[in-house]
Amino acid sequence: MEDLVVGLIAVRIHILTIFPQMFAGPFDESIVKRARQAGLVDIRIHDIRQYTHDRHHTVDDYPYGGGPGMVMKPEALFEAVEAVRSGPDTPVILLTPRGRTFVQREAERLATFSEVVLICGHYEGVDERVRQYLVTDELSIGDYVLTGGELPAMVVVDAVVRLLPGAMGHGAEAVSDDSHTSGLLQYPQYTRPAEYRGWRVPDVLLSGHHGEVERWRRQESLRLTLLRRPDLLERASLSPEDRRFLDSLRSQEEK
Ligand code: ADE
Repeated sequence: MEDLVVGLIAVRIHILTIFPQMFAGPFDESIVKRARQAGLVDIRIHDIRQYTHDRHHTVDDYPYGGGPGMVMKPEALFEAVEAVRSGPDTPVILLTPRGRTFVQREAERLATFSEVVLICGHYEGVDERVRQYLVTDELSIGDYVLTGGELPAMVVVDAVVRLLPGAMGHGAEAVSDDSHTSGLLQYPQYTRPAEYRGWRVPDVLLSGHHGEVERWRRQESLRLTLLRRPDLLERASLSPEDRRFLDSLRSQEEK
């Protein structure tokens, strides 16, 4: 029975942390909970202190050369990674504000592995030998500094799990319409009632014309992306019609 369940697991995610309690909650609700129950993902939380050998379970020490704060020691991190991963090809990712910015493309890449190790960094940093000889990637979830890599690890897990086939109840379609998946921000969504406090849902959405709805959504995505994230347009794949629409928006702006 055990083997049967393991056979279904699409991805195993190991999280190495000094605060394992922080993970109670976020993985026990909603889509991540269902994905775990369905055997799509196996999330294993490991306490780094369990891989220390001294009486005080020391995970940090003063930086060589002086300076403020503490540095995470290498020994327990190396031993923990070597104990939990199944082989040398498993990506080992350190969450740190120094990393590459985590983007949708990276979530898509991580969702293709059968095993991933996430290390939650802490203190003023991690001994450089961990970065050099243990870690394969360093990721940041944005240009701000958090107290540690735990919340970033939760963000990464959440973004990856919802991409696993079968994780989203209503099928893969919702994922392909996400903001960022297409390289554009998502179009506005409406639900019933058709009129609320005098504010009406755009007629085109009630029209039943599938083609018209698609055109409207595409144009609203383009409009919003141009307004809020014009940087995304440089990398998005755009049709000649998309480009004509953007040109018309830009020329309206100039007027
Ligand atoms: N640790 C602290 N801040 C972080 C961030 N922005 N991203 C990833 N890890 C972090």
